[in-house]
Amino acid sequence: MSKFPRSTKFSAEKLIELAEIYNSPFWAYDGDIIKTKVDQLKNFDVIRYAQKACSNINILRLMKSLGTKIDSVSPGEIERALNAGFQAGTAENEIVFTADVIDNETCKRALELKIPINCGSIDMLKVLGTKKAEGHPVWIRINPGFGQGHSQKTNTGGENSKHGIWYEDLPEALAVIKQNKLKLIGFHMHIGSGLFSKNFDRTCDAMAELVIKCDVDIEAISAGGGIPIAYKENENDVDINNYYELWNAARKKIEEHFGHSITLEIEPGRFLVAESGILVTKVLAIKQMGGKKYALINSGFNDLMRPAMYGSYHHITVLDDTEDRVMEEIVIAGHLCESGDMFTQGEGGIVQLRLLPKLHVGDYLIFHDVGAYGASMSSNYNSWPLLPEILFIDGETKLIRRKQTIHDLMHLEQI
Ligand code: LLP
Repeated sequence: MSKFPRSTKFSAEKLIELAEIYNSPFWAYDGDIIKTKVDQLKNFDVIRYAQKACSNINILRLMKSLGTKIDSVSPGEIERALNAGFQAGTAENEIVFTADVIDNETCKRALELKIPINCGSIDMLKVLGTKKAEGHPVWIRINPGFGQGHSQKTNTGGENSKHGIWYEDLPEALAVIKQNKLKLIGFHMHIGSGLFSKNFDRTCDAMAELVIKCDVDIEAISAGGGIPIAYKENENDVDINNYYELWNAARKKIEEHFGHSITLEIEPGRFLVAESGILVTKVLAIKQMGGKKYALINSGFNDLMRPAMYGSYHHITVLDDTEDRVMEEIVIAGHLCESGDMFTQGEGGIVQLRLLPKLHVGDYLIFHDVGAYGASMSSNYNSWPLLPEILFIDGETKLIRRKQTIHDLMHLEQI
């Protein structure tokens, strides 16, 4: 995937046509990009899609058709997986439930569906012990004592993270598994989202070392998710073959130790879907505030939360850029009644200027690489409805989620 930005499969004419039909703002995904990304991971035995990145059931159906399995982190995500056709209760273990805590209802549902449970706390294993879950398949999610993400908020390892079972507590976790006669399938390690490649070897080494030290036989290991994508033009894509080789080497050490083959799983979200998605918005006002110029658009962090939440960068382009425009620096801000509602900001909320062709009211602005943690993190803040989602696949354009209405919102609140 070299061309930048990647998510430009839709022509400007097509997007303007869609903007007229569905009224901006809207999300659009390019299914062919998703296919390419799944294909890039085919060396791994199992690609388990982390649906939290983009959980529209039509995207899940696409993943299923491409041969991935699926991770669910809530009862809602379990039902989405089932709805999309992933099978529960078969030897294939198509659906796994991953969490650090489990409530009674979710536990009951996972047990009746015979869905393997990936446990991120010893108390979670103990809950299973109270539910007559003998023989139920479980994974252990290890916190190896270090972690890293593109932001501190996406770091899921080390003592500043709440995730996983602390590596020194593994003997206790294994004792609870034994005592409750649960069936241990494997060990899982997800140390953060948006990893730097300098941490790849360290994670693989930690997995091999800890599994061998525990010396309890397993069927599989999971590398978790975390593979970054290049959000900026000067960033490089991860060398996926190298990433696979590091994990394969860890798997081989474990295989040698136990004397049998071990399945190698990977659990990506962002890597598979980020580059497929765009958000199409419109400029509604332009104003000069002292030394800074602002463009205010018809969307906000209710739709795309990543810039406000993590200071994340999303590439922005002007849709109908036929005019020869001068470039100028401008802040792109949203429509919410909230000062932090800015799409161009750094971590900690520092306002940033973006160099863009001179904007006019009525211009369509495209946010790129929003297929992961875009629509799935949207909210109804300020009572804005959720946006429509469109999927472009096999030459066809399909509406895969209609726009939520204000009636939909208020309907839940009737007395
Ligand atoms: N597996 C587990 C257990 C996870 O917690 C996550 C992400 C993944 C897999 C997938 O990680 P990925 O391959 O997408 O990096 N909202 C943030 C990302 C939070 C990720 C949470 N867990 C963002 O917008 O960057």
